[in-house]
Parts: sequence; structure tokens; C-alpha cells
Amino acid sequence: IPVFSPFTVEDYKVSLYILNLFLKIDYNAELFYDWELLMAAAYYDVIVIGAGASGLMLAALAARRGRKVLVVEKANKVGKKILMSGGGKCNFTNLYVEPEHYISHNPHFVISALSRYSNWDFIGLVCDYGIEYEERKHGQLFTLNGAKDILNMLLSECKKTGNIEIRSSCEVKAVNPLCENSFEVITAQGQFNCESVVVASGGLSIPTLGGSGFGYELAKQFGHYVYPTRAGLVPFTFSDQFKEVTTRLSGNALEATLSNSLNSFTEALLFTHRGLSGPSALQLSNYWCNGESFQINFLPGTDIAIWLKQKKQSQSKVLLRTLLNEYMAKSIVVELQNLIWPEESEIGIGNLSDQRLEEIGENLQNFSVKPSGTEGYRTAEVTLGGIDTTEVSSKTMESKKQKGIYFIGEVLDVTGHLGGYNFQWAWASAHAASQYV
Ligand code: FDA
Repeated sequence: IPVFSPFTVEDYKVSLYILNLFLKIDYNAELFYDWELLMAAAYYDVIVIGAGASGLMLAALAARRGRKVLVVEKANKVGKKILMSGGGKCNFTNLYVEPEHYISHNPHFVISALSRYSNWDFIGLVCDYGIEYEERKHGQLFTLNGAKDILNMLLSECKKTGNIEIRSSCEVKAVNPLCENSFEVITAQGQFNCESVVVASGGLSIPTLGGSGFGYELAKQFGHYVYPTRAGLVPFTFSDQFKEVTTRLSGNALEATLSNSLNSFTEALLFTHRGLSGPSALQLSNYWCNGESFQINFLPGTDIAIWLKQKKQSQSKVLLRTLLNEYMAKSIVVELQNLIWPEESEIGIGNLSDQRLEEIGENLQNFSVKPSGTEGYRTAEVTLGGIDTTEVSSKTMESKKQKGIYFIGEVLDVTGHLGGYNFQWAWASAHAASQYV
């Protein structure tokens, strides 16, 4: 029985008892003792699904409380996304973390976990390991020597207690409740039993780095509502006339404000052969839905119409494109000229009416574009939507539908802005659950 079918310690004891009855095998003998040890080895207090940012963090913290933890990871290596993050330098947190930096249908959900494990707690851990880091724009903290420093730190924390086993190439296929406080977890490497299951399997972004919908399916199995998902922090694509412009400008960047009715971001905007990328585009993608337009201000922080009218007085013979070279690369100005003032391209500014200058200024600062879509999960940094957080405890991250099941990290309907906020959520939600699993 133990060899050929899924079983628990209890099943095993019963089967030995039956053998004892019918075959007169002494179940107090050494055989029983060894099998019980073997069974104990396959039984964990906590099984964590996913060895990504949140899963490794949770394992380290739960093991510190004396919990025996198994982390199962479907990829052949752990922490793949951490290694790729922040252009290989891992933007591991931010100096200014506020609930406003997160998108969720239940915006208050993040407050408790973020306040109990703050950016300063994680910075403290990074400092304990002597990891060198730098502050970039907007309080973003990046390692100086590479994301591997963060992954190695998490793995060292996991090794500290000796209570954690990590198995890679071990995809979880199913999780079944057995009885109260007991689950069986069916994996590619066999079946394991545990008291608590932590779903840290992330979202759908970048399938080659482990992106998977497993967590959503599991949540549905236990009766959870899962908000529709879509790619976030992702470049925009175009199929109209603007695509030709971005293709020609591919590789060029400038500081710009991208906005729609929901939000506005002033950061670098990068032209690509498929459309628009760079921090400002990635940030706005979190607030954009298919079919919508958004506005680009190519000259943030300036009232360009007033500036042009002043130039009209002082440099009346100069062409508009020559004047604008003061603000941006020639190639970008030429493309904007073709889009906004093609008829007046060879006319000195002094010959343009104030009204026309105002129109041109308005276009430069409120230029409307309509993407055909985004690059999708293939390149998205995050997944928007996910498990409805009203059905999860904000204190413990435990499911309100199924005792013993916990959800942490990106699988929940919590998405951070660009800037280290997503990792901070992974650390904080892992910390919250680690105290209760
Ligand atoms: P994460 O995705 O890290 O881990 C989930 C793990 O579960 C994966 O290893 C996956 O293989 C595994 N898994 C899935 N299904 C499974 C199954 N059935 N069985 C077993 N294992 C399974 N954020 C940030 O704050 N700063 C940054 O610099 C970046 N940079 C960045 C770059 C790129 C390219 C990407 C794609 C993403 C970022 N992010 C980021 C986002 C950040 O990586 C992300 O928010 C966190 O990794 C989420 O952590 P989780 O632990 O929730 O999932």
C-alpha cells in the first residue's frame, strides 16, 4: 500500500496494523520504526510552491520559527526572475514605499503587511550581508554587483536553520486537502504531505522565467475569485502610422510625461521598433486597457507655447525644428515636425501666427496616441489582476476559504509600480505569512 498509492502517516500505520493482523508481522519491529522515519521525512510543516522572491523569503523566515519547510520549484533553477530583475542589478526595494504605489481592487490590503515588514527591514538584511547598493532616481535601490547577491542572500538565509529542503525541476501538479491541517501536494517528484501550503507561484509574466497560471487555478479550486489578468509594466505596440515613427526612432529616448485619466508618469520614454518602452511607458501600461488612447507631453516642465511666442520675438527667422533642438534630439524633432507642422517646416517662426504656435505647443504637450496593444506576457514584468484579496487575510495571507492555504507575492491581486515595489511586496507578504504558517 505505501509503495503504490498516495498515503499519509495514518494510512501507513493502518496498513501496518492490517499486515500485523493477517500476516503476524510485528509492527513494533525495526521495519515499522524505519518506515515511520521515512514517512516523517516526506511530511513537512510547510510546503512552498515556487522558489521565487516571495517563496524563498517565506521559507527562510518560517524555518527560523522552527518550521520544517519544503520549497518546490518547477524550473531547473531557483530565483530566475530575481537574477533577471533590474537589468541584472535587481531593484530590490525603494526608499519611499507607500500603499499608493500599488494597484489592487482592494487598495487597503497591502497596508498591514507593508507596515510590519518595511523597506528598511529589507535594507537592514542587505546591509547585514554587506551587499553594496546604490540609489537611483525616485529612491530606487539597485545592487552594485548584480542580482545574484540578493538571491545568494536569500539562499544563505534558507540554509541557516537546516530546516529547509529546496527541490528544483519539481512542478506542483495538484494540492488536495486530506483532513484538518493536512494537505497532499502532488509534484513531478512524487507526493509530499504538510500542514500548511504556501502558494508563491507568481503570475503569468515571462513564461520562460517560470510565469505560470498555476496559483490562479489552485485558488479557483478552493473557491476563490480571481480577477482577470493582463500584462503590466510592459512596452506598448502600435500598428498605425505612429509605428513607422517609432521604428525610425528606435533606440532614441527622451524625458516625457505619459498620462491618461488614471495616472501620469514623467520618466524616460524609449522608442523601439515595435512601439514605446522605457520607464514612463512601462508605468502607464499598468493603467491602460486595450483600445484606449493616452497623451504624451514631449516637453514636460515647460509651457512650450509661451516659450515659442517669446522665440518668435527674439529669433523670428529661425525654424521651429532648429529651436526645438535645444530640448531634444534632431531625429525626434524631425519626426514630430512631420506629424505636427509639416506645412510650416521651412517657415521661420516669425511668420507663424500666435494661434498656430499655441496649436503646435498643445500638440507637443498633449500628443494623443492609440497603441494597438502591448508586448504581452512575453516581456511584461508583472501580471495585473489575480486572486481577490478580500478573500485572503491581510494579517496572515491565509485563505478565508480554505484553512491552511496561504497566498503571497504576485499571485495576489496586488501590482506595484516600477521601482522595486513589486519585490517589496514579495518580501512583506512573505514575512506576514511566515509568522503564521
Ligand atoms: P516569482 O515569479 O518570483 O516566483 C514564482 C516561482 O514559482 C517561479 O520560480 C516559478 O517557476 C514557480 N512556479 C510557478 N508555478 C509552479 C508550479 N506549478 N510548481 C512549482 N513552481 C512553480 N520587481 C522589482 O521590484 N524590481 C525589479 O527590478 C524587477 N525587475 C523585473 C524584471 C523582469 C524581467 C521581470 C519579469 C520582473 C521584474 N520584477 C521586478 C517583478 C518581480 O520579479 C516580481 O514581482 C516578483 O518576482 C514576484 O515574486 P513572486 O515570488 O510572487 O513570484
